[in-house]
Amino acid sequence: MTLDLAVIGGSGLYAFEGLENTERHSVDTPFGPASGDIVTGDFHGKRLAFLARHGESHTVPPHRVNYRANLWALHSLGARRVVAVNAVGGIRDDMGPRTLVVPDQVIDYTHGRYTSFNDVEGAEVRHIDFSEPYTESLRQAILAAARAEGLAIIDGGVHGVTQGPRLETRAEIARMKRDGCDLVGMTGMPEAVLARELDLEFACLALVANFAAGAGDEAEISIEEIFAHLKAATANVAPILGRLLSPA
Ligand code: HPA
Repeated sequence: MTLDLAVIGGSGLYAFEGLENTERHSVDTPFGPASGDIVTGDFHGKRLAFLARHGESHTVPPHRVNYRANLWALHSLGARRVVAVNAVGGIRDDMGPRTLVVPDQVIDYTHGRYTSFNDVEGAEVRHIDFSEPYTESLRQAILAAARAEGLAIIDGGVHGVTQGPRLETRAEIARMKRDGCDLVGMTGMPEAVLARELDLEFACLALVANFAAGAGDEAEISIEEIFAHLKAATANVAPILGRLLSPA
């Protein structure tokens, strides 16, 4: 199968509306089941694959996502270019709720996740270059598509990835800020490194749902507000990706 684009949906994006001639694929992988079926369909005259990272009913928490199975399944269906949509908290002042960001760097604070396809008995140890965790041409394509749609979007930022599923403490966010993080999410890693191991083009479209703990004025973070902001930000995803697929 030829796929022009694969999309991994995060919190707030459990189905990709507007796909035509859809097919569902339940893919067996050497790493167990993916988060759910992959749905392929036509979108802007191209073939798109969609996978809900947390499952279609949001039942798989960030630390239990089978990242290896998800990437493997997309790759085995023919995906070569993947846009990961991630809900994040903003740390930097200009990254408030509903801001769109295409990060260019990652700091990984997660633990206990499988971070390599070669993390199996007897497999050769593999060290890969990860100086630039995202594919620059794909980052630029997302930015150009968003701007062509008349949307404000921030180019670059350090995406700190925490274990979840709880949100962070103020002290943790203060430390992440000192570390240089601009955004915080729970699912950016090991997704990006596994994509690199498969030589996929890979970039993240981050949707800011809230100011991270202590980064805004709020004493605490409202989960209802997170989902309201996410819903609004998510409405931009299909137009951006449609433009990415048919730029003219
Ligand atoms: N922290 C981590 N992940 C998130 C947040 C946050 O504040 N908001 C949305 N995803």
